[in-house]
Amino acid sequence: MVFLTAATAALGGLLFGYDTAVISGAQLFFKSSFRLSDTQLEMAVGVVLLGAMLGAALGGWLTDRLGRKSVLLATGVCFGAFSLWTGLSTGLATFVTARFLVGGCIGVASMLTPLYISEMSPARIRGALVSLNQLAITVGIVVAYGVDYALAAHKDWRMMFISAVLPAIVLVIGMLFLPESPRWLAKKGRREDALNNFRRLGREDEAQQELADVERVLREETGKFSELFRPGFRTAVWIGVGLAVFQQITGINTIIYYAPTILRNAGFSSARVAILGTVGIGVVNVLATVVSILLIDRLGRKPLLLVGCLGQAAMLGYVGYSFAQHHHGLAVFVGVLLYIVFFAISLGPVVWLMLSEIYPTKIRGAAMSLATFANWFANWVVTVTFLSLLDKLGSVHTFLLFAILSIAAMLFCLWLVPETKGRSLEEIEDSFRKLGHARG
Ligand code: BGC
Repeated sequence: MVFLTAATAALGGLLFGYDTAVISGAQLFFKSSFRLSDTQLEMAVGVVLLGAMLGAALGGWLTDRLGRKSVLLATGVCFGAFSLWTGLSTGLATFVTARFLVGGCIGVASMLTPLYISEMSPARIRGALVSLNQLAITVGIVVAYGVDYALAAHKDWRMMFISAVLPAIVLVIGMLFLPESPRWLAKKGRREDALNNFRRLGREDEAQQELADVERVLREETGKFSELFRPGFRTAVWIGVGLAVFQQITGINTIIYYAPTILRNAGFSSARVAILGTVGIGVVNVLATVVSILLIDRLGRKPLLLVGCLGQAAMLGYVGYSFAQHHHGLAVFVGVLLYIVFFAISLGPVVWLMLSEIYPTKIRGAAMSLATFANWFANWVVTVTFLSLLDKLGSVHTFLLFAILSIAAMLFCLWLVPETKGRSLEEIEDSFRKLGHARG
């Protein structure tokens, strides 16, 4: 049951991945359909990130009040409706509005999917189950690349967007049958329901104890947003926001969103080969995420973060060096592929996982909103500045800049990020509370 819950909820991640990546192939075609200028195209492409910021900001507040299940279900319905609307839009204004609303759904799904799975999972395998969300994001990205490629021959950009309706329907139907998070039920004082749901999730023996632990930490929480700024939880906020921002400013979406451009700069002259290379990057992203899922509850989060950030820095340095040597082509491609491997075993899955683990129960949604908003904001900053950075700094220095930021990410993880492997959410919460007491 717990696996089924995680796998179904992860469809929220699939829609996140699909809807962020589908635009890459669709833009060529709706640009000519709507006769857009370059500035209008940039707006049509970028608006989804603004929607995601808004969705991320509101999602936590909504889910702390209305529950995990109902908000995820409503997000699925909206995903389907707004994807259909995007595909049917008749002009720039309706298209931009529809994409903004899809962005809102992406923002909510990005914080709520890992949060819901985390609250449903037993500590022992929580890392793997929550990371199914990241796996789904990566699958969504490749499927989007594939659908774009397949529909490109007919220039059918409308179907590219409408295709997202299918996983949205599966998510909605699946969510109808899944249990509400027992932790949220306990927070609402619905003791019996919480106990039943722990049992439904296969924790026959531990249900009483788990509920007692949850109720114990709930008694110590005020439930006010200001609690996040007290010593202890304040550290959790910094860790969360830091991780969320580092995930983006180390350059992942320059590759995910602009891979064909980078590969063409590196000397892959044919657009077809560049697109095929992009699909290769997407596949490697999926495969390396599987490896991470196998390791995350064994090795722990921190070793993966440290190895991943160091590897990312090395590969970005190598890509920068290859551009400098002008013997780029294959060298850049290999460097980019290995960079993706290091991201996919570390900052990709671990960031969303840790955000779902480190905050107190009553305001977990709101706290996660804060970090997730920071993630989308950083994503937006990198995405809108990347092409100008390439233009002003050149490829060599742009990639070196991301390499330096990856080293900074590694030091941040080394000094600040705790290990959460194998500990229940309540034990993690206790440790931040103790830190707060120690700091007076
Ligand atoms: C990030 C996305 C990124 C994706 C790539 C996610 O964890 O939040 O911004 O596009 O990974 O796999």
